Amino acid sequence: MSNPSLLILPGDGIGPEVMAEVRKVIDWFGKNRDLAFDVSEDLVGGSAYDKHGTPLHDDTMAKAQEVDAVLLGAVGGPKYDALDFSVKPERGLLRLRKEMDLFSNLRPAQCFDALADFSSLKKDVVAGLDIMIVRELTSGIYFGEPRGIFKEGNERIGINTQRYTESEIARVARSAFELARKRGNKVCSMEKANVMESGILWREVVTEVHQAEYADVELSHMYADAGAMQLCRWPKQFDVIVTDNLFGDLLSDAAAMLTGSLGMLPSASLGAPMANGRPKALYEPVHGSAPDIAGQGKANPIACVLSFAMALRYSFDQGEEADRLEKAVEKVLADGARTADLLGEDGAKPISTSEMGDAIVAALTASL
Ligand code: IPM
Ligand code: MG
Repeated sequence: MSNPSLLILPGDGIGPEVMAEVRKVIDWFGKNRDLAFDVSEDLVGGSAYDKHGTPLHDDTMAKAQEVDAVLLGAVGGPKYDALDFSVKPERGLLRLRKEMDLFSNLRPAQCFDALADFSSLKKDVVAGLDIMIVRELTSGIYFGEPRGIFKEGNERIGINTQRYTESEIARVARSAFELARKRGNKVCSMEKANVMESGILWREVVTEVHQAEYADVELSHMYADAGAMQLCRWPKQFDVIVTDNLFGDLLSDAAAMLTGSLGMLPSASLGAPMANGRPKALYEPVHGSAPDIAGQGKANPIACVLSFAMALRYSFDQGEEADRLEKAVEKVLADGARTADLLGEDGAKPISTSEMGDAIVAALTASL
């Protein structure tokens, strides 16, 4: 049988340097765990624009549809700020999400013991935190029509449309309930049913799916603004949070910061199963391209490494190997390895991006 295929899209800013560390980890699994991948690499975002005049070439899009999983670094940077909206680096990422129909975006927020002091919240509020935000990723206000900037009378008017069909809500709700069954068996659904009709429908459909198929899972509802407040007040009350595209974007950044650093958090974007039974899938760190530190060896590769761990778990059915990789990360942190983003005020010397990658690989080897 041929090896599973991975398309790597390092992207812009720190994307290429964190991805280089993931390549070390992928090679390690090939050499030591009989888990070799056919890896190909291509451009996305600003780097694709520089070469092709588009943030995602059609050939790259076609490749992404064919492979078993896509691993993406980050896109964007100030260099591209002035570009027309239609060719901005972010459009490349949004096209991948939309055309692969990656409707379920899993964003775990986990607080590593060694880092509980880095959170801006008190240690007992975040120590041991382990929540999963399931963000709807292919619809809602990010994609709804009509959209645009129009002229009305003698002024301009900017329009975006929040739009959800029942089936779009139902499928992401199912993915949240399925995940909850493998975790703490609790789902909290967030919308603003108090002010938005799409929120009323969201709440109704989530409730219907729950009653018909997942009555064994505990379900609660919260307005998204109250949810944001509760995330800061006592985040450990949550297990799985399911929410729409825009609220999920905001709430996942807030949840990420509870854990101390955005440089730590991975994500998986999953779609329907392909012919081989694997879900369409794209894995990427939650952090952005961090152009201010790009190319200096300062970036933390952990979010991207942990995104590969999610690929092992969700695309390749290698839960034990995913655990091994996550434990290796936990071990290097417990041993005191810190990239610059994880330093307190004690004047300790940070290690570089590649030193962090090497430390993770060494911890993997020690795990054998
Ligand atoms: C994210 C990012 C993206 C989004 C941007 C880069 C388009 O913020 O993945 O959370 O808004 O979805
Ligand atoms: Mg975001």
